[in-house]
Amino acid sequence: MTIEHKRSSKGEIEDLIKARYSLIWITSPEETRVEESLRKLCVEREMRLEVWSITEGFKTIANGQGTRDVKDPMKAIDHVIRAEGRALFVLRDFHPFLKEPAVVRRLRDAATELRKTKKSLLVLSPITKIPPELEKSISAVLDWELPNRAEIEQAARKVLPNLPAATQQVIESDPQMMERVVEGALGLTLTEAENVFAKSAVRTHTFDLETILEEKKQIIRKSGLLEYYEHREEFSDVGGMEILKDWLVKRRNAFSSRARDFGLPLPKGILLIGVPGTGKSLTAKAVGALWQMPLLRLDVGKIFGGLVGSSEENMRNVIKTAEAIAPAILWIDELEKGFSGTQSSGSTDGGTTSRVFASFITWLQEKTTPVFVIATANNVHQLPPELLRKGRFDEIFFCDLPDREDRRSIIDIHIRKKKRDPGQFDMDRLVEATVDYSGAELEQAVIASLYDAFDTGNDLSTDGLLNTLKDIVPLAITMREQIESMREWARTRARMAATRGRGGAKKEGWMARYGAPSSNLGDKGPAPDDGDRKIEL
Ligand SMILES: Nc1ncnc2c1ncn2[C@@H]1O[C@H](COP(=O)(O)OP(=O)(O)OP(=O)(O)O)[C@@H](O)[C@H]1O
Ligand SMILES: [Mg+2]
Repeated sequence: MTIEHKRSSKGEIEDLIKARYSLIWITSPEETRVEESLRKLCVEREMRLEVWSITEGFKTIANGQGTRDVKDPMKAIDHVIRAEGRALFVLRDFHPFLKEPAVVRRLRDAATELRKTKKSLLVLSPITKIPPELEKSISAVLDWELPNRAEIEQAARKVLPNLPAATQQVIESDPQMMERVVEGALGLTLTEAENVFAKSAVRTHTFDLETILEEKKQIIRKSGLLEYYEHREEFSDVGGMEILKDWLVKRRNAFSSRARDFGLPLPKGILLIGVPGTGKSLTAKAVGALWQMPLLRLDVGKIFGGLVGSSEENMRNVIKTAEAIAPAILWIDELEKGFSGTQSSGSTDGGTTSRVFASFITWLQEKTTPVFVIATANNVHQLPPELLRKGRFDEIFFCDLPDREDRRSIIDIHIRKKKRDPGQFDMDRLVEATVDYSGAELEQAVIASLYDAFDTGNDLSTDGLLNTLKDIVPLAITMREQIESMREWARTRARMAATRGRGGAKKEGWMARYGAPSSNLGDKGPAPDDGDRKIEL
């Protein structure tokens, strides 16, 4: 799949240098890779490149040779200020020294001094940890991108000679295989990719896609923020929601270069909101299979959890990984849990949540990489209004409780999943008896009934299911008011995921049958029949 490319990090640094940015912070755990890019850049631009570390002082690695024995951080900055000519200076792992007020002061002086020269100073560190006094002096912070396809392929080719000759031949003669292998390791650093290839070579004597993906899954999980999902849910596992499904099916090839050439914009993402248990998460997972794209699940809560890194850094890392794996789907489940406090964030966390949220919104709107965002939420009232403005998501879908037809297909799916023939069941009666049940509750009913049947030595049957249903009180009964208010909200702001909007308490629903309280029916009273109340859009 070819895709639009954003500016590479090397290109970005080049622009910054041309624009005479004097003090730049580069965040990356991949020191060697970043320095290699900088070296190439300096060779192209005929600049000297000097790299400093506390253990070795300065060493010239492009357009010149030699070392300078200045290990002291203060003296290192002095050297940069005094040095002659066009040059780039890299300070490795400098952040621990920024605890010293004198070092910070000297760095600020350097930022001012260097502006008048053709020299730039780069602080290269695995983390972004800038003391507030220095923030204004650092003219740019650049998060170095993860390796692209070409770089990952190089890593694979390094390991390739270790494979048996016959296997090497097979891989070399099948460009698609190499492409898939490379794709499998996208999102990793170069060292990680090399390790993954090496492990696959040792274990399977070839580049085994499953081993590679399994390793990648582990590495991504270790970051603590993202989870890499396999395609386990099929799109046909999702019952109902025809409008939403059509929308997604229509965009199945929208990430191809053919779609770009045709003039189609890159799909940005969708927000799925609605009643609990209606299949929002299920749909997100199924889109991965439909579009044949990797799915990354983001735990928004962990961005702010404080267990891993700073919130800002966490958000940047998530975006970086998603962009490296792209085309990919970034699934943000329960969005409201992470971003609900944006308005009050100033008073509670010094504005961190709002800042991280703002950077997420900007990325969502401006991204040029094919990362499709599927956000799901069920408390609409906690969502920051900025998120809902036009241009953020392509579409906001409201997932309501399933109507008659949708219940039919959901029950069908779950009966089939239990390897029974839906044709043996009286679907009309089941559909009739499940007004107000969500997809999750329908699934739960099938499973519970299967237990009952097993226990009594029977098989799953219509009567058995009807019996089990009596014991399952749909959440819609206890959540009546919340659901109504959500529907109210969605009427003007969202598109219905299913063809026929439905809602309202029903005379022939659960309450009528099993005698639930009628006091919370709301002032509209019961709707005339099941499932067909049109919600105006
Ligand atoms: N439309 C549906 N078709 C088939 N199965 C469904 C559907 N909706 C729900 N289910 C079943 O219920 C399970 C739970 O649904 P899911 O987690 O997707 O709901 P949700 O809308 O994300 O709920 P929540 O708002 O609580 O997160 C699914 O894994 C699936 O088995
Ligand atoms: Mg969910």
